[in-house]
Amino acid sequence: MRNVFLLPLVPAVAPLVAAITLHKRDVPTVVELPLERRQTAAVLSRRDSSVGVSISNEGQTGYLLNLTLGTPAQTFSLGLDTGSSDLWVNVANSSLCSASDDPCKPFGLYNASASSDYKPVDAVFNATYAGGDNAYGSYATDTLGLGSTKIDDFQFIIAESSTDTQGIAGIGYKISTYEAEHENKEYDNLPYALVASGATKSAAYSLWLNDIRSGTGAILFGGVNKAKYHGDLQTLPIVPVYNRYYSLAIALTEVSVQSSSSSSSYSDNLPLAVSLDTGTSLTALPESLVNKIYKDLNVTYVEKASAAYIECDMTNKDYNVTYSFSGVEITVGISELILDATEEGFPTGTCIFGLVPSQEGLNLLGDTFLRSAYVVYDLENNEISLANTNFNPGDDDILEIGTGTSAVPGATLVPSAVSTATGNGATATGSVATGSTITATITSTGDSTSTAGTTSAPTSGSGSDLTSSTSSGLAAMSTTNAKHLLSGLAGAGILLMV
Ligand SMILES: *[C@@H]1O[C@H](CO)[C@@H](O)[C@H](O)[C@H]1NC(C)=O
Ligand SMILES: *[C@@H]1O[C@H](CO)[C@@H](O)[C@H](O)[C@H]1NC(C)=O
Ligand SMILES: *[C@@H]1O[C@H](CO)[C@@H](O)[C@H](O)[C@H]1NC(C)=O
Ligand SMILES: *[C@@H]1O[C@H](CO)[C@@H](O)[C@H](O)[C@H]1NC(C)=O
Ligand SMILES: *[C@@H]1O[C@H](CO)[C@@H](O)[C@H](O)[C@H]1NC(C)=O
Ligand SMILES: *[C@@H]1O[C@H](CO)[C@@H](O)[C@H](O)[C@H]1NC(C)=O
Repeated sequence: MRNVFLLPLVPAVAPLVAAITLHKRDVPTVVELPLERRQTAAVLSRRDSSVGVSISNEGQTGYLLNLTLGTPAQTFSLGLDTGSSDLWVNVANSSLCSASDDPCKPFGLYNASASSDYKPVDAVFNATYAGGDNAYGSYATDTLGLGSTKIDDFQFIIAESSTDTQGIAGIGYKISTYEAEHENKEYDNLPYALVASGATKSAAYSLWLNDIRSGTGAILFGGVNKAKYHGDLQTLPIVPVYNRYYSLAIALTEVSVQSSSSSSSYSDNLPLAVSLDTGTSLTALPESLVNKIYKDLNVTYVEKASAAYIECDMTNKDYNVTYSFSGVEITVGISELILDATEEGFPTGTCIFGLVPSQEGLNLLGDTFLRSAYVVYDLENNEISLANTNFNPGDDDILEIGTGTSAVPGATLVPSAVSTATGNGATATGSVATGSTITATITSTGDSTSTAGTTSAPTSGSGSDLTSSTSSGLAAMSTTNAKHLLSGLAGAGILLMV
């Protein structure tokens, strides 16, 4: 623990120095920003609509944050993504954005000529994300504004063409940017640029998503807000991928289902490397594990729709799904797992269930998990600290994350935590090729949509046990817009509850 910042100063310190130091340390060096869920369906109330709103066509879910680029400031609302590392914005002349209904406008369009601080960077960007989204453009630098924080010469991408009306703010490891992978050239992406500019002490941030009905949340760069979780933060190692810290994944060791009368624990295919991914709205785990949970909760999976339904009324029952990570438990109440949406063809009175079988070994704990967890992503120390979310937080109690090891205030390192795990379908042998390309393609056949993920890393084999090797390349994919993957999995359209 390095929670020295709020401790009283020892009397031995000279008064003048003490006064200055106290002042500085009293104000934690953090940047906090609100998040808002992007969800077309949420705009309409249940009663409003017998008319279906297709989430997959009308827009996506995921959490947005606001920031500015340029001088004078141009405003953007971007998808926050822990599953990738670059930040990109659309421009007005791209074919997608120049459509007559200005589809990109609500999320912001960058105009280099209108900014006095714009500078081109001689590097291109051409990323295809899990789920099939693509963005192509060139790197540039400009002034970034995050709340009242300004960062000079922040590097980002101007996407001349993209498949998404909304840009992305990737906040993963800086070795995972497109430029680092393809040009072997690292630059300071958002978490690191905040450190370089003095806005935070460490490339670390805490994520709090409120409950499924609220649609809001907050990200706190450089700090921890003790008001927003229950109990203590417990620290787990991030699982390396091919010996590098590449993706924000930890080892899932057990999942259990509790009711007032029984409790069942499952560890099929576990331990397993799972990415904690804000870019994904559902949670995807191995089929055999998911099937057991379905059985306990009366969930029905519809192959054709690649989605599952449950009685909507189950949301009021006392069931929990508890995820364990080397003994650290995050409890997800069933109401957090039931979406207020249904799908064409699903029985009346049923709702979409927020857990699906993973496809092609892409195991993700998305928003239907993350809302129930307070997650501190410590990129500097390759650790993730977890606690159960406090959905009714009182006054903020913000502590700074300092430098060095054990820098997350109030967090306890879990002894002997599983630090290496394979994803299912990964043999995890050999080393990753430098400049590895991570792509995924989405192929549509009839009603269902399936995803084939490919990485340059080996992904064959069926090993799923804990091994001494490193984790799956697939659990570690750039998963921005895996929301597309998952809304794609939901099939022809998600209809609103009537
Ligand atoms: C972003 O800005 C828009 C326009 O001012 C505002 O309506 C929205 O609530 C903001 N969202 C977030 C996440 O701050
Ligand atoms: C769009 O504008 C950018 C920046 O001005 C330019 O580099 C790019 O070539 C333009 N793209 C098209 C399709 O006109
Ligand atoms: C970009 O900004 C320049 C300079 O302010 C302006 O002349 C131009 O019309 C703007 N382009 C778009 C597409 O808004
Ligand atoms: C981007 O990469 C894809 C394949 O990864 C390729 O098919 C496409 O032509 C590239 N786009 C550009 C504009 O270079
Ligand atoms: C589910 O979790 C909540 C909150 O932790 C707890 O109050 C409740 O008793 C749990 N229910 C069951 C059946 O374990
Ligand atoms: C599941 O459905 C069956 C048959 O409708 C019912 O008997 C059982 O109580 C249900 N179980 C749960 C957990 O709701």
